[in-house]
Amino acid sequence: MPYHIGFEIADLGDNKPEIALLSGEPERTGKIAHTYLQNVKLLSKYRGLHSYLGDLALNQPILVATSGMGAPSTSIIVNELIQIGIKKIIRIGTCGSIQSHVKVGDIVISKAALCRQGAANDIAPIEYPAVADPFLTVALVETAQKLGINYHLGITASVDTFYEGQERIESSANPHLQSHLLGITEQYRNLNILNYEMESGVLLKMAGVYNFKAACVCAVIAQRNNQENIVVADKDLAVSRAIEVAIKAIDN
Ligand code: URA
Repeated sequence: MPYHIGFEIADLGDNKPEIALLSGEPERTGKIAHTYLQNVKLLSKYRGLHSYLGDLALNQPILVATSGMGAPSTSIIVNELIQIGIKKIIRIGTCGSIQSHVKVGDIVISKAALCRQGAANDIAPIEYPAVADPFLTVALVETAQKLGINYHLGITASVDTFYEGQERIESSANPHLQSHLLGITEQYRNLNILNYEMESGVLLKMAGVYNFKAACVCAVIAQRNNQENIVVADKDLAVSRAIEVAIKAIDN
């Protein structure tokens, strides 16, 4: 039994899933399973990392799992999902935009990630690329186009901390950032990076090293050109769009 996910291969039945949808929040995991899947079975709630098994149309089994927040937790869950036979993972996350044309309510599809993550460095050297699977990524893009959802395809900054690492000063308990982080958002903006989040880097590096397919779609819930805070009122709609794009991209 893989220790952290709280279920094992035998719990997956005869028709075993090869695709997992991975989100940071257990509530989002439950929403995906109960809104889009049939024959939903709760596999585990261990440590708040809820996992469900269910079918998309045409009897296609799907695993929906929770990564928790940040790269260390994500690395553990992804490692164990691979051990129980998962071959494709789509992260459905949330993010903060750092470009003025990427608005709250839009979605960002990551083609690659800049990794500023300790856990990612345990997976592979810092120079090792964190790239999304091109085919899964094109499927996400084409689905967003079909659904008429505002999407942006580009590079994501995947970092370890929500406050310090994403240069939050006003909303942080500690307004004194280390000097190497002061101005980092502007540097990333000038490097044509679209958004900040905390899990895609380690996921995409693991995909390269462990040889599975991974992609990432994130709902934009903060616009860092305007303010540090999450725009809570717009979160549900933005997240629903990211979920719909991921689900329809794999529904065949
Ligand atoms: N997730 C992040 O990591 N940053 C944001 O600004 C929003 C969601």
